[in-house]
Amino acid sequence: MKTRILLADDEQTFRLTFTKVLHEEGFDVDDFDNGLDAIDAIKKNAYDIAILDIQMPGADGIKVLKEIVKVSPNTRVIMITAYGTVEMAVEAIKFGASEYVMKPVIFDDVLLKIKQQARYRRLQEENIQLKSDLGSIFSIDQIIGDSPAMARVFETIYKVANTKSNILITGESGTGKEMVAHAIHSLSEGFPGRFVAVNCSAIPEGLIESELFGHKKGSFTSAVEDKKGLFEAAQEGTLFLDEIGYMPLSCQVKLLRAVEERRITPVGSTESIPIELRIVAATNKILLNEISTGHFREDLYYRLNVVGVHLPPLRERREDIPKLVEHFVAKYNSQMGKNCASVSERAMNVLMNYEWKGNIRELQNVIERAIIFAEDETVNVSDIGLVSVSSDSIDSQERGLQDALRCFEKEYILRVLKKHKGDKALAAGDLGIGVSTLYRKISELEMNSDIERLGAS
Ligand SMILES: Nc1ncnc2c1ncn2[C@@H]1O[C@H](COP(=O)(O)OP(=O)(O)OP(=O)(O)O)[C@@H](O)[C@H]1O
Ligand SMILES: [Mg+2]
Repeated sequence: MKTRILLADDEQTFRLTFTKVLHEEGFDVDDFDNGLDAIDAIKKNAYDIAILDIQMPGADGIKVLKEIVKVSPNTRVIMITAYGTVEMAVEAIKFGASEYVMKPVIFDDVLLKIKQQARYRRLQEENIQLKSDLGSIFSIDQIIGDSPAMARVFETIYKVANTKSNILITGESGTGKEMVAHAIHSLSEGFPGRFVAVNCSAIPEGLIESELFGHKKGSFTSAVEDKKGLFEAAQEGTLFLDEIGYMPLSCQVKLLRAVEERRITPVGSTESIPIELRIVAATNKILLNEISTGHFREDLYYRLNVVGVHLPPLRERREDIPKLVEHFVAKYNSQMGKNCASVSERAMNVLMNYEWKGNIRELQNVIERAIIFAEDETVNVSDIGLVSVSSDSIDSQERGLQDALRCFEKEYILRVLKKHKGDKALAAGDLGIGVSTLYRKISELEMNSDIERLGAS
């Protein structure tokens, strides 16, 4: 995104040449020869930087500055001051200007200042974005659901957040286990440190110990320097052990010892380190079954499952579906800049009765795709591409459904590509997805030969 600048100065030669310089430097510039027009423009557009002469007809620079502070507080303001108005420029800093420059203006000096301010604005924007991302992903009010089952989940989350107990979250895939783990962490005032997540099923068995506990240089061939483990990274915070059911037995012993003694020993070290953190573990396996088959240690299970949070599958809390649908429709609608804010009654019926083996993650994906395909303000049955499944013969129907969905998606993408004569950037824009997503879909759906045919025709 280009930095957007407003320049207000009644001295025509300066204004026109400087506007040209700024254009050449790659900025977007709107220029005005009086304060009143500048104020109008500020109300209509979002400027990153405003450069204001102090003496101007209509409204002087100070008046414009005050207006900016009121309507667009993130805009950075640079005042231009002539001999005789320096004191006013200093005053302007008190009102909220960031800088002032003296007339006659030396282009290189002021360009440098503009670049600094532009950089500041970018960082500020990124920060705002980061904060809102963090806030929205991790806060408990992003967890949707007011079924009795979810009410119990919320109650447990609030209760346990104030304790130091370890927690075991159980539930099928896609039921929101990781989301709940984050929410517990963000509500836990007793653990102000970091939230560190480890997926136990993703680390090779031989490396788990060193990942968790760290290692000393030379303790094994690839250990070329000391390395801190995830336990240490999560000191005073939360260590989230995801997919704990996949942790190898050899590592379970060491984990048990760490939990019991509240100390860890890095691989190859002779000294142990005290640890102070909360462990939140999650699993979609039924651990009691794993215990009975000898794949999970019973003693570790009881150490981790001091408090249990169970997330019921979506099909057991269908009353949550409408709110979830509404939430995801709003989310993807605004993300894709579409104008599709409601769901037809028939479509909602299908969503209410579907099996949802992949739980909320699956629902989220279905809505995302529906919003991509939706052509007017309402999501219709054809947009969601699901058929209600009865509980018998689900497996074969599921396969049939998957095939149907693939086919549907393929046809649709082809249609849009055809419309844009194979131009992928235009097609992606039309589909409301990124170009890289389109490329991924083309390869996932094995569409390359179809596209070649498209080019030949
Ligand atoms: N109650 C909820 N409200 C809103 N979004 C939810 C809810 N539960 C889950 N989600 C969303 O569904 C997706 C899956 O959630 P999450 O990753 O927490 O599930 P999980 O149980 O850890 O799944 P898996 O076992 O597959 O790792 C995420 O994108 C999450 O934001
Ligand atoms: Mg998960």
